[in-house]
Amino acid sequence: MAPPGDGLGDVLVDEATIEREVARLGAQISGDYAGKRLHLVAVLKGSALFVADLMRTLTVPTTLDFISIVPYPQGSSSGVVRIRKDLDDPIEGKDVLVVEGICASGLTLAYLVRNFETRNPASIRVCAFVAKQRERASEVRLDYVGRQIPDVFVVGYGLDRDERYRNLPYIARVA
Ligand code: IMP
Ligand code: MG
Repeated sequence: MAPPGDGLGDVLVDEATIEREVARLGAQISGDYAGKRLHLVAVLKGSALFVADLMRTLTVPTTLDFISIVPYPQGSSSGVVRIRKDLDDPIEGKDVLVVEGICASGLTLAYLVRNFETRNPASIRVCAFVAKQRERASEVRLDYVGRQIPDVFVVGYGLDRDERYRNLPYIARVA
């Protein structure tokens, strides 16, 4: 697809695809959690647009909380993540779905799942709107994925480079 300009490369996930994949994920998740209450934990800030869209498609009773983490330095592989803003509410006994905008190495999600497991949720699953096709931290299991994308840096639909481009309604490669 044609580059959108302004230093960006090809569009990897366009608006129509986003809408379709969010609807598909919403239907799948609604079916899997039928008869239960779902507690979404969205990872700020990259999941902001995705979780807003996803929530609207869910047909099960849903609550929402946010967590904000400090990104570890590029290239670091320790998998240790610092929590900047923790959850507002306990997750003990809840069916938790962690919602992320993008999964790259998987270290962030692996850390969060380990951390949340110590808080005794009834269940915990993970949803990432996009997942890079690359090697991942072995512990992370992605239960729901919108699109697989190549291992390139992307922005848009909540994802940033130096806080820019989050507002783009599509996901594009950085040129
Ligand atoms: P991981 O721990 O390597 O899976 O990386 C997860 C975090 O890195 C994501 O939550 C994003 O904040 C950031 N990230 C990784 N790849 C990209 C990208 O291509 N564009 C924007 N942010 C990214
Ligand atoms: Mg970022």
